[in-house]
Amino acid sequence: MKGVWKYKEIVHPVLNNNQIITKMEGDTNIYHHPKLSEYSGIKNIYMKHEGENPTGSFKDRGMTVAVSEAIRQGFKKTLCASTGNTSASAASYSAYAGIDSYVFIPSKKISKNKLLQAYSYGANIVNIDGDFDTAMSNLRETLKKRSDFYVLNSLNPWRIEGQKTIIYEIMEKMRPDFISFPAGNLGNTSAFGKALIEMREMDMIDYVPRLIAVQAEGASPFYNYINNHEETLHPVRAETVASAIKIGNPVNYIKAKRSIEFSHGIVERVSDAEILEAKKIIDRAGIGCESASATSLAGVKKLREKGFLDASDTVVGILTGNLLKELNTDVQINMLTIDQVMS
Ligand code: F0G
Repeated sequence: MKGVWKYKEIVHPVLNNNQIITKMEGDTNIYHHPKLSEYSGIKNIYMKHEGENPTGSFKDRGMTVAVSEAIRQGFKKTLCASTGNTSASAASYSAYAGIDSYVFIPSKKISKNKLLQAYSYGANIVNIDGDFDTAMSNLRETLKKRSDFYVLNSLNPWRIEGQKTIIYEIMEKMRPDFISFPAGNLGNTSAFGKALIEMREMDMIDYVPRLIAVQAEGASPFYNYINNHEETLHPVRAETVASAIKIGNPVNYIKAKRSIEFSHGIVERVSDAEILEAKKIIDRAGIGCESASATSLAGVKKLREKGFLDASDTVVGILTGNLLKELNTDVQINMLTIDQVMS
């Protein structure tokens, strides 16, 4: 097997092969480009592109495992709350498995492409009047009353198991000093730490790369929680241009803290302007990503400037979503006339 299921024995060992619902996710490319090095001040910076997964985001790695488990348990309906990518992935994998999906979405606040994706795959869309955090609490309330829905959010441990494979793929190919990625609901932060803890226990690696979780400034409760050494996470009202990570009350913060502690990691935050600037660099290098993903590069640049990272460090950034995920972003497209080209 390739991709996620190459690691079946450390992802979901008890599943029978004929129970696996897969669209061949994983095995994503790692890119290197002088523009990224120049911008970040880190010569050996690489970007692993999770936007190359079947529905255009890293969510597919967790979804293949969680939906396989839903089928194993005999569920006929799935449910998730989402800022867009989870719903697109959940809708696709549920449809592929032949079961119904229900998605709670703050439809006015997410990217239209993601909404259309979920709708096209046949999801039952429930519009939430509020933000992602409202959708998440609506989901918890629903679960108190209904037991026939299988939850596909990253509070489902099988999602985390699948997302561990991002780290396996990196560590098989290289020896990074740091791994940088966007942090919203903190599923990846949790998964990456769990992968490293287990790899260390199994002697699969002889050192632990440091994790860098990057939040958007307007949605950075985890940044505050870790860096201010708070007893508990204080939710915030989230606001950022990066709608995928517009999350003020992340569910996985305790597991995520363990990841940061284990890897001697760093939690950074970046402004919307820094996110959009970094996105432009990634896009213009011909690689491309959605805005939330660009926090990984913006965070590295900021930490290099602060002196936390050395110019000679090897850094892998995770691009969590595809460029095509956000075509509704307001951009002024400067076009040329034919005359300008001919003259
Ligand atoms: N990047 C993208 C493109 C995302 O869609 C998300 C989360 C994240 C980063 C943050 O990852 O939650 O593991 O910290 N999107 C979720 C969704 C919340 O509903 O699609 P995280």
